[in-house]
Amino acid sequence: MHKPFSEACERNKQPILDILSRWFAAPGNVLEIGSGTGQHSVHICQTLQHLLWQPSEIPETIDGTRAWVAEAGLGNLLAPIELDLSQWFGHTTQMDYLFTANTIHFVSWPLVENMVRGASKTLPGHGKFAVYGPFNENNSFTSVGNQQLDNWIKSFNPEAGLKNRSAVIDLFVDQGLHCIDTQSMPANNLMLLFSRSM
Ligand SMILES: C[S@@+](CC[C@H](N)C(=O)[O-])C[C@H]1O[C@@H](n2cnc3c(N)ncnc32)[C@H](O)[C@@H]1O
Repeated sequence: MHKPFSEACERNKQPILDILSRWFAAPGNVLEIGSGTGQHSVHICQTLQHLLWQPSEIPETIDGTRAWVAEAGLGNLLAPIELDLSQWFGHTTQMDYLFTANTIHFVSWPLVENMVRGASKTLPGHGKFAVYGPFNENNSFTSVGNQQLDNWIKSFNPEAGLKNRSAVIDLFVDQGLHCIDTQSMPANNLMLLFSRSM
């Protein structure tokens, strides 16, 4: 299998790892939603060896994720599982952590609703969910680059595109999950940390 490669991943993987080192400091298991190529999974697991990482991807593209994970051969990185948010109601077992990068703007609003509802069922009381990606503020793009990204995504999925940060946070609050930390990231992205406890 030819390994797919994401340039964007190479640029943002270290800033994401730096934040996760603090947010996911205690040992635990992690479910990643929409792992894509698997570059984040591999990079994070090489350093954060106290985490047992479960990547996931939709069936159409999971072979690429599998190729990265298999080649890395890391003891704390499990074989990817199929997870499609259109049919996701939560993981079969509870996970200490959830992580997703660049998925919220990539899918439609009903799928974000499924993600948050499923997350709430999957996280125990101490659980945390780290979300990385671009968001709008008060219905406005925060950069020309984010607007171009939104146009590009809508060209193949008119239902997708950047979401308002406040609307996403409200969705989490409806499921009992609060935004307890926000980090500004390079290229007008954000990392948001959600937890049941304030
Ligand atoms: C922009 S890519 C981000 C990939 C990776 N997380 C990263 O940051 O490089 C968006 C990801 O969302 C996944 N995705 C698209 N539709 C999905 C769905 N219905 N359920 C779960 N993931 C989906 C894509 O397959 C892809 O891996």
